[in-house]
This record gives sequence, structure tokens and C-alpha cells, in this order.
Amino acid sequence: MREKITVIGSLNYDIVLKIPRLPECGETLPADSAVFSPGGKGANQAVQAAKLGVPVHMVGCVGDDGHGQILLEAARRYGVDTEHVRRCKEPTGMGIINAMEDGSVFACIVRGANFAVKKEDIDQAKEILKDTFLAVLQMEIPQEINCYAIEKAKEWGCKVLLNAAPAEEIPLDYLKMCDIIVLNEVEAGFYLKIDVKNEKDARKGAALLAETCGSDIIITLGKTGAVVSEGGKVTFIPSRKVEAIEATGAGDSFIGGVGYALKSGKSLTDACRFATCCSAVTVCRMGAQDAMPFLEEVMELEKQR
Ligand code: RIB
Repeated sequence: MREKITVIGSLNYDIVLKIPRLPECGETLPADSAVFSPGGKGANQAVQAAKLGVPVHMVGCVGDDGHGQILLEAARRYGVDTEHVRRCKEPTGMGIINAMEDGSVFACIVRGANFAVKKEDIDQAKEILKDTFLAVLQMEIPQEINCYAIEKAKEWGCKVLLNAAPAEEIPLDYLKMCDIIVLNEVEAGFYLKIDVKNEKDARKGAALLAETCGSDIIITLGKTGAVVSEGGKVTFIPSRKVEAIEATGAGDSFIGGVGYALKSGKSLTDACRFATCCSAVTVCRMGAQDAMPFLEEVMELEKQR
């Protein structure tokens, strides 16, 4: 039986600035604090699944620099196998995140080494992927490579979860190959060309995307919750109510949680219920990977239903 999750995607060195508001043009705004944290959607999702106890492999690139070293060490410390993370001459990717007092975030990324991932990196992970039950991808590596990875992961027998973030046009044929597509409200708005602001919009959007792609769809709605379309049945799952401090990586924590729960045999809808507990813990601490919970912490929160 296939046990592994393999994440093909980005690793970023994040700088999270806690600020009271966004600066005006021409203004220099003092930040309340700065946190340096291992991040990148791919690495975050890998770390969350590994922290929950799944055997996780990561495929990607970091620079041959200090940040790259920090990211590799963090991923390994949390249990991610980084044998297929290649070091390259491009600088390690970065995330610059402005975190507001209400927990919302405004982020930019520097692609750097993430854009050095090649088809050969996917080919070299063939044996791992042949033993993988869930391949997890995002959109922070070149799209051509992502599409190749989707194709290969399917060919080698994996279930494919695509977190189509950051939003970018992608050929429908590749979306149709994905078993599960995960979007937040902003990304859902981009792909659907409609406003996705609440449960009602997300239900409509998930149903529409499910019909178009033939995939299961998850639309996350931040502190409101998530809508999941599984086999055409659309369900709303409310978020756990917590005192959020900072939301970087909350969506990645959710996806890592979905991966763990699917591996434990849960349905996608129940996996999303479990995943809301993961992201609820993550938003209560600063940064991405360091903020993500271990299994015991999630179980503790689950008991409080
Ligand atoms: O999803 C959060 C992540 O997006 C951050 O860690 C940042 O690096 C960007 O990739």
C-alpha cells in the first residue's frame, strides 16, 4: 500500500512583518516586529503533513546559499525527506509578508530557485512517486514543469491535489487530470470570474468548477470556513473559532491536514473537518512552518467539538 505524500513545489525564506496598516505611497512605516520563518507553499504543505506523522518527500530547488541551508534544515527537522530538493545557483525563493493586526496578510514572493525546477527533477523522483498515494502541487514553480509533474504523477499512479495558488491561467486539460483542486476565495474569483466572498458564492463556485473539471474542489474562506465538493456533493465546513494572530501558511496547514486525513482513510469532506483544526492552531502563532501543529495538538482541539 502506498504510504507517502510527495510535494512538488516551492520553498521560500519568509520575512513576516507585523504592521498596524499598509504604508501609503512614499511613507516609511515602522513595523511592530519581524519574524524570519521557513515558508513557501510547497514546503509548508510538506511540513504540515510530516508534523502530523505522514512520510513526506519534497521535490524542488533552493539556492546554494544560507537561506537554502536554513530551509533544508527546517524541513528535515520536521521530518520531510529532502533528497529530491536540489541546490542550484539561483538564490533561494523568498516570501515577504505584511501581517495586519486582524490576522489578514498581504504577501509577495520572489521566485528565485523555485523557477529552476526542471522536468529532470520530476523524473529523478519517479521511484518515490511510484510509491506515493498523494502528489501535492501548487503554482510557485514554472507552469510547464507543474503540468509535466501532474501528467507524470497520474501516469505513476498517484492521486493528485493541486493548490492552484498563486492564481494563473492553466490549461483545462491539466485541471481535469487533478483529483482535488484547492483554492482560496481570491483564487476562486480569478478562475471563476465571479466574486467569491461568502459561503453562498463558494458553494456555487465549487459546484461549477467540479462540473467543469470533473474533480473534487475545496474553496477555503479564511476565518469563515471552507466549502468542499466531493463527488458532486457540496458541504460547508465552518472554521474553528480562535484568537488569530497571523495567518501565513494557514491554507498550507489546511492542505497538509487534508493529506494526513486522506491517508488515514477519511473521506475528503471529513478530511476538511480535520484540516480546519490544523489551520486553527496555525493562525494562533507567528510564521508558517514553525506555527503548524503536531498531531497531538490537533487531536486536542478536535476533542473540543
Ligand atoms: O502560503 C503561504 C506561503 O506563500 C508563504 O510561506 C510564502 O512563502 C508564499 O509561498
